[in-house]
Amino acid sequence: MLEKLAEIKSKAIDELSNLSDLRELEAWRVRYLGKKSELTQILRGLASLPLEERKAVSASANELKAFFETSHRENKESLKERTYRDLETTVKGEKIDVTLPGRPIPLGRLHPTTQMLRKICDIFVALGFQVVEGPEVEWDYYNFEALNIPPDHPARDMFATFWIDAESGQRPMLLRTHTSPMQIRVMERTRPPVRVVVPGKVYRYEATDATHESMFYQIEGLAVDEHTTFSDLKGTLYEFAKRLFGEERQVRFRCDYFPFVEPGVEMAIDCMVCGGSGCRLCSGTGWIEILGAGMVHPDVLRRVDYDPEVYTGFAFGLGLERIPMLMYGIDDIRLFYSNDLRFLRQF
Ligand code: DAH
Repeated sequence: MLEKLAEIKSKAIDELSNLSDLRELEAWRVRYLGKKSELTQILRGLASLPLEERKAVSASANELKAFFETSHRENKESLKERTYRDLETTVKGEKIDVTLPGRPIPLGRLHPTTQMLRKICDIFVALGFQVVEGPEVEWDYYNFEALNIPPDHPARDMFATFWIDAESGQRPMLLRTHTSPMQIRVMERTRPPVRVVVPGKVYRYEATDATHESMFYQIEGLAVDEHTTFSDLKGTLYEFAKRLFGEERQVRFRCDYFPFVEPGVEMAIDCMVCGGSGCRLCSGTGWIEILGAGMVHPDVLRRVDYDPEVYTGFAFGLGLERIPMLMYGIDDIRLFYSNDLRFLRQF
């Protein structure tokens, strides 16, 4: 029995030296001082031992119990202290200096095309136009046919077209070459008065260079009502030019040809760099072309069941990228969609 006690003692001391926190110490206490511990069992069983042995074992066992109790108390203190010390180092180490300036979060920005698109739409919305969008994959019918451009019409040469499955013999389908097809779609589903602008992507099957991209943006405009006149076209577009380019701008309208308008015009503004005297930006002419426009052709109105004797309208279409190019002196349209952050971050 005495040997057993010695064994318990050495095992307990061993384990004690390996404890690392208060929880482990508590488990140790239960193991060696708890009701079910070997030592407690031995102390309980003392009565059944022969007297001589009982005396010796009783002394040893009680001594061991006292030893365990003291060890427990001492270890508890030192472990407690160690825990506080560790906590302190952790807290000190993880201290946050709330006076430090924050790390800046990199901010995204709107693409220059998006910015210009919104600006232009805002101007037309203020003039009473509604913004609508339409499909980029379009039927030949809307892109050409309904706009007075039948198959074999020479005007098809103005639009190098991406055809979709042209050989299939089905209804010909394409990537829209302009936003004008939306004129037809809008008129098909509404009755006058119509006042819409249509921003969106258009596609041309062309080699790219500094002034040509195979994908770019246009904004289309359409206004149809009783008594809409060419004066309304001029007034609206003049107002638009002033709001976008500045109050002092002058505009010039000259004849141009587009199959879906009659008469057709191009609108130019006086050069914002030289004021009209001629410079590099305006190629010495003093004028910069901005958009195509005209009075909606009676045949186009008939297509959508608008009576041209009752209703008249004007339409216009402008290339979007050209405008920031003029305003900011950007000399290559390809910069817009090549995703170079050094370019995009400037806007
Ligand atoms: N759709 C023409 C183009 O892409 C631009 C245009 C000209 C639109 C005259 C119009 C218009 O609405 O009336 O070249």
